[in-house]
Amino acid sequence: MRNRFILAALASLGVAACSDNAVKPAIPADPEIEKAVEKTLAGMTLEEKVGQMTEIAIDVVGNWGPEGFSVDPEKLQTVIGKYKVGSILNTPVVGQTPEKWQEIIGAIQEASMREIGIPCVYGLDQNHGASYVMGATYLPQNINVGASFNPQVAYDAGVITAYESRAANCPWTYCPTVDLSRDPRWPRVWENYGEDPLVNAIQGSAAVRGMQGDDPNHIGPNNIAVSVKHYLGYGNPRTGKDRTPAYVPEFELKEKNFAPFKACVEAGALTIMVNSASVNGIPVHANKELLTGWLKEGLNWDGMIVTDWNDINNLYTREGVAVDKKHAIELAINAGIDMTMEPYDLGFCDLLIELVKEGRVPMERIDDAARRVLRLKYRLGLFENPNTPLENYPMFGGEEFAKIATAAAEETEILLKNANGILPLQKGVKILVTGPNANSMRCLNGGWSYSWQGHLADRFTEKYNTIYEAVCNKFGKKNVVLEQGVTYVAEGSYEEENAPEIEKAVRAARNVDVILACIGENSYCETPGNLSDLALSENQRNLVKALAKTGKPIVLILNEGRPRLINDIEPLADGIIDILLPSNYGGDALANILAGDANPSAKLPYTYPRHSAALTTYDYRISEETDTMEGAYDYNAVVSVQWPFGYGLSYTTFKYDNLQCSVEEFGKDTELVFTVDVTNTGKVAGKEVVMLFSRDMVASMVPENRRLRAYEKVEIQPGETVTVALKIKGSDLAFVNPKGEWTLEPGQFRMQVGDKTLMINCK
Ligand code: BGC
Repeated sequence: MRNRFILAALASLGVAACSDNAVKPAIPADPEIEKAVEKTLAGMTLEEKVGQMTEIAIDVVGNWGPEGFSVDPEKLQTVIGKYKVGSILNTPVVGQTPEKWQEIIGAIQEASMREIGIPCVYGLDQNHGASYVMGATYLPQNINVGASFNPQVAYDAGVITAYESRAANCPWTYCPTVDLSRDPRWPRVWENYGEDPLVNAIQGSAAVRGMQGDDPNHIGPNNIAVSVKHYLGYGNPRTGKDRTPAYVPEFELKEKNFAPFKACVEAGALTIMVNSASVNGIPVHANKELLTGWLKEGLNWDGMIVTDWNDINNLYTREGVAVDKKHAIELAINAGIDMTMEPYDLGFCDLLIELVKEGRVPMERIDDAARRVLRLKYRLGLFENPNTPLENYPMFGGEEFAKIATAAAEETEILLKNANGILPLQKGVKILVTGPNANSMRCLNGGWSYSWQGHLADRFTEKYNTIYEAVCNKFGKKNVVLEQGVTYVAEGSYEEENAPEIEKAVRAARNVDVILACIGENSYCETPGNLSDLALSENQRNLVKALAKTGKPIVLILNEGRPRLINDIEPLADGIIDILLPSNYGGDALANILAGDANPSAKLPYTYPRHSAALTTYDYRISEETDTMEGAYDYNAVVSVQWPFGYGLSYTTFKYDNLQCSVEEFGKDTELVFTVDVTNTGKVAGKEVVMLFSRDMVASMVPENRRLRAYEKVEIQPGETVTVALKIKGSDLAFVNPKGEWTLEPGQFRMQVGDKTLMINCK
């Protein structure tokens, strides 16, 4: 038996509390860059500064013709020549080839350098790979990256995204998304790393480092600037619907929602995008305390804040906090917005100029905003090299990246049930592949894939394998039958399904040994993904119920952006794998797992609910669960979930022993090192996510059930024991009290790793 010692290096990243010292700059300024920024700023007119604060949609500067989209020099002359606009974003409907992007962004840069001598910063939602670039390597969506519990997966995805984005001449992306997915109804659950602040902090900041590299002052030609989003509190909408108000107590906003943004800023994030909706009654775009107070001053951060799409306009058209557009601009710019994703109306510039002349927006605020925009462009090296030519990126869309993407997908698909040794499947078994997600690249990818809604993905993904194709490749075409039983409507709402043909699937099941029911959701993004029922569609559940009657064993393949309720069909399946949204290599990864060529190691990054009236997160407060009491009253409140946060199986088994802590007593500055021996007691090698949870036993606020404090993923050979060390600081166990203060109270904490616990005492 070999023994290894592994120290979790990233354990308490970014969530350290109790910071009372003067804040060091999040990104130490580079004197050369600051000098250049000041020199450029000194030569700029008010009009030029306001132009730099403006971001316009790509459709405003181009036309569609027989050759597709092309930039129109006259329109460019208005946008850049006249209005001096500093940024352009997004894509003409669908993604373009890298050559086309080079042409489009190259033309914009040429005009920008010629007209104003300042490069444009082009922005795209390159969310899971360069997802608006044809032929780029698609990585699993962020919810999968969360499920991997492996920061290396996030980092590698970031590296590939940045490289391939630069191949398309695009230096800026609107990711990573580190909203906490606290409500399973929300259509943007899959864009984040799950419900937990620490997982979002660790995976998100690893993504930032992967994309930006290690020196935020000098972003190299293989790196891009990130925009961490959507600041702050976006993932908690009370209605469950996108872009609707959230009500989050300040103590939770500060302790949980803020944590991943802080971690990303400390990892060097150069820009942040704002939450489109309101929190506690104030639209975040007009919230000076959150934007200027918490972010810029609180973290001493000199980066740039960009609005989300149209959100200054939404202050008067939707939110009702401004009387008109001019008032909305005044509120937002004074709150701390530096760049406005307008995206269509150049009148924004005229109104902002008027506001400055009328004294309603101070000139210092304009200088501060323009300075932050210029600093971003200098840090990106755009003044020296406005373009990054395609020939410098020979690895674009190549084999090396494809291998990393496949391995990443394998590490992000979660084995949730494996009864009667159903998995891995035996060689030579006859398989029915059924369900609406069985043969669709669109479903594997989800939104932000070639287009916003991801609805055209099958057009561009000929070379990749759907689940059906991958299963054929792995198990032999003659052993595999496709009969879907339920299919999605190709055009229309993501929820629509065609008239079911369940009988056909049932007939096809008669001649097979095992049924793979590929169910879940079709692709969607943002508000069009709102839902009215969290249960999986009735057709799909009926399909599984009818197939169960054949007596053939069923493996459910869940392919969904958020956890849809399946409590009535879960008992009918022997095996369940939640592949989430694993993207273009996700079908191959699944086939590898089904055949036992890959061992699943992912864990649920959120709580999978069982009932629609029992939606919770794992860190609920203890009295949300109350036992039945003696006597006349029944206070029974039960937390009942389908699977808990952090749950996930493997083809091997792990045993935990010998949990120890380096200290028995601690204060806020004490370093606590927890060690535990983890043994692979099964027959195959496997990766285990070793998680450290805490429980504050008695506190002045109702304590939470559990909190994840550190995690580390380790690969362990059969029979091998690895000693894993998880390191935190005493202050990591603090909470924010209702007065908004970080608090660490004396008393006992129960610490848990695997099935082992120990008590430690705060002095
Ligand atoms: C989304 C953002 C996105 C932006 C630009 C908005 O609708 O909320 O996440 O980055 O559009 O495409």
